[in-house]
Amino acid sequence: MKYAILTKSTAKKLVSCISSRQKETSVSLDLGKSTEKVVLCEDFALLRGENISKKALEKTKEDTCYIAEDGELKSVNFFSQDTNLFYKLRPTSEWPTLTLSSVPMHRFAHVGPKRHVEMMLKEISPIKGKVLDTCCGLGYTAIGEANAPEVEEVIVFEIDENVLRIAEHNPYSEELFTNKKIKLNIENVFEGIKKLPNNYFDRVMHDPPTVSFAKELYFEEFYKELFRVMKKGGVLYHYCPNPGKTKGKELHPGIIKLLTKVGFSNCEYHEKSSGVVARKN
Ligand SMILES: C[S@@+](CC[C@H](N)C(=O)[O-])C[C@H]1O[C@@H](n2cnc3c(N)ncnc32)[C@H](O)[C@@H]1O
Repeated sequence: MKYAILTKSTAKKLVSCISSRQKETSVSLDLGKSTEKVVLCEDFALLRGENISKKALEKTKEDTCYIAEDGELKSVNFFSQDTNLFYKLRPTSEWPTLTLSSVPMHRFAHVGPKRHVEMMLKEISPIKGKVLDTCCGLGYTAIGEANAPEVEEVIVFEIDENVLRIAEHNPYSEELFTNKKIKLNIENVFEGIKKLPNNYFDRVMHDPPTVSFAKELYFEEFYKELFRVMKKGGVLYHYCPNPGKTKGKELHPGIIKLLTKVGFSNCEYHEKSSGVVARKN
């Protein structure tokens, strides 16, 4: 990754080392993937070739990722007038999440994004052959699928280019753009899936945002397409976001009903990963 990317806790450490007149220290400039040596001088830290002032480091805020570019720290977030959404790479205790106008695209409160992605991938294990990943986001599930040795290709869709602009700054999304097994389509999967062949995929990962963001991804018409493109013996995992849980309104019973209606068998809700596993027999 070209630019250094850091959070307030890294900035705080750098400030403290500068204040105690250390000449160098080791910190992570890729959100915890690795650590590297950083040269410090009187009021600056040299972060991958960028001189960043102590003042700029002191000004960093919680829950924000920054890249060091053109001698400044720039927050990894922006507003898009086209979508009327605010996009943000938000640090967590492990992999960062993406928020769309403050709505997180991964679980991160009790279970971190990494742990939850591992749980979702386990639901369709062994992951093999051809995989459809309906909703790219930061690409965590797609990368995990592509890294399974028996996987030939992962076809992944993302409707929103702004999301990929955020992913480009995330060290944990790097492989989304470099792994040759991953075929990334910037397209609405509701439309894109209609162009995919029958009986093609061994595994399908459906990790949509909440219904309010993408209601068509919970339609019977879409589930019919999921069924059509899957091979016999294929396994689907459908994440069920649960904003209604506290209000006593859970999504999974309705999802199971519709998946069964379009032909899926053995549809079961797995509370731990918060999703439905279904099979095409
Ligand atoms: C919950 S996130 C997916 C997280 C992803 N699995 C990961 O590992 O980072 C949902 C993503 O689906 C995208 N999305 C929403 N509607 C879509 C659609 N109709 N077609 C494709 N992508 C869509 C959103 O922009 C968002 O990035």
